[in-house]
Amino acid sequence: MTQTPAHPPGFALPDDALPGLAAELVGEHLRRDAAEPMRPHRSPDELLATLPIAIDGGALPWSEAFALLQQVLAATPSTTSRRFFNQLFGGRDGVAILGELGAVLANSPMHTFKASGVQVLVERAVLRRMGELAGMPDGDGMIAPGGSLSNFAAMILARNHALPESRERGLPGARAVIYASAAAHYSVAKAAGLAGLGRGAVRSVPADAAGRMRAECLGPMIDEDRATGGVPVMIVATAGTTVQGAFDPLPAIADVAERTGVWLHVDAAYGGSVLVSPRHRGLLEGCGRADSLTWDAHKLLTVPLTCSALLTRRPGLCAQAFDEPASYLFQDDALLDPGRGSLQCARHNDALKLWLAWKHHGDDGMAARIDRLFTLAAHLAARVESHPGLRLCRPPASINVCFEVLGTSSRELCRALWERNVAQIGHAVVDGREVVRWVLVDPAHTTEEIDAVLDELLAVARGLASGA
Ligand SMILES: Cc1ncc(COP(=O)(O)O)c(C=O)c1O
Repeated sequence: MTQTPAHPPGFALPDDALPGLAAELVGEHLRRDAAEPMRPHRSPDELLATLPIAIDGGALPWSEAFALLQQVLAATPSTTSRRFFNQLFGGRDGVAILGELGAVLANSPMHTFKASGVQVLVERAVLRRMGELAGMPDGDGMIAPGGSLSNFAAMILARNHALPESRERGLPGARAVIYASAAAHYSVAKAAGLAGLGRGAVRSVPADAAGRMRAECLGPMIDEDRATGGVPVMIVATAGTTVQGAFDPLPAIADVAERTGVWLHVDAAYGGSVLVSPRHRGLLEGCGRADSLTWDAHKLLTVPLTCSALLTRRPGLCAQAFDEPASYLFQDDALLDPGRGSLQCARHNDALKLWLAWKHHGDDGMAARIDRLFTLAAHLAARVESHPGLRLCRPPASINVCFEVLGTSSRELCRALWERNVAQIGHAVVDGREVVRWVLVDPAHTTEEIDAVLDELLAVARGLASGA
């Protein structure tokens, strides 16, 4: 770092101090995750009172800036510790973290080959491998910052397919319809609003009790909409629903998509990673018949946030939908410039960490990690089922274990677990009842750790019941 003219010597961080500080930060985080997996719960007011968060115009020398970062990290809830079961990601993969560090250091913009070089080829290799596993070996794809945006991009492709004039001329009066199950992720409705189709365009296809789309309802809904002047734009099947981890019946849904000619997108943001496991990939059987598929590696594959891919069965679609002329940027080999088929201009390189992790673990190692999650979920489900004070909603479809503690509000229980620094576990509604949703997403967990957290959860529930 060069010296800032306005500041005295020693104010700016010297380059040669950076490696040591980075090592200190990493070491501190790992030690804290082990010693204090739940960071002390603090309210926004307490945080604002104890940390100098506001940007007040003052300037800190690098040593104070570093100390401030340490303070903020110490106060940040850990999603990488062994007490985090709250979202569809968790744990950490050291090699993937190294990959992420490499991406930060190289700071490749990922829009042109000229500025990103070999990183473009790394990203392509990742997309190719994911496409092969998804049964879309000849298609293309793009990396997006999260499954929500991959779903959004897929909706734009589907919109352009159903309403070919829409990219140039907008949507004059077309009544678009999107079909997604009642258990689909909220990003579908959000994308419909963003894509100019309207949130109201999303029709909810009934789901069965396990949260799987009832494919037999889909065809009649599409026929009915067509008969009344609607334009069916897209079917969104979910592979791994957010709450119950259910997989929609893709072959039956693909049959309807093929008969009706409606674009089929598989939102496999959550469940896509199951494709790396020969033992469990049957859950996504038929996904290669879809037109597009969202797959978040940052969920089950334990790579740092974010790493999401949109894959397409046919080539060239992303460039058709997202290319814009920019003579100041795209100047060399158009085919090598990922920016021509991307939602973004400059973007973080999310592929490198996944590529490195895959190189490190190999196919077998990746599969073993996924298989482990299913084993852990089955273990927890068995413990829940055999406990007289617990009610398992149903055998888990994948790695989400949903259950109730009899006589205890799941919402209050999960809040108490968080506030008392026991664990972060989510709650959701299943069959109209509020339930604990415990996601087993870190392959490093042991069954003993899961048992210990369950015992603590039961102790907190007993405390709540007795008013403690
Ligand atoms: C099924 C499904 N789709 C999409 C998403 C959105 O993914 P992201 O958080 O990466 O935007 C999620 C997130 O949980 C999800 O469960």
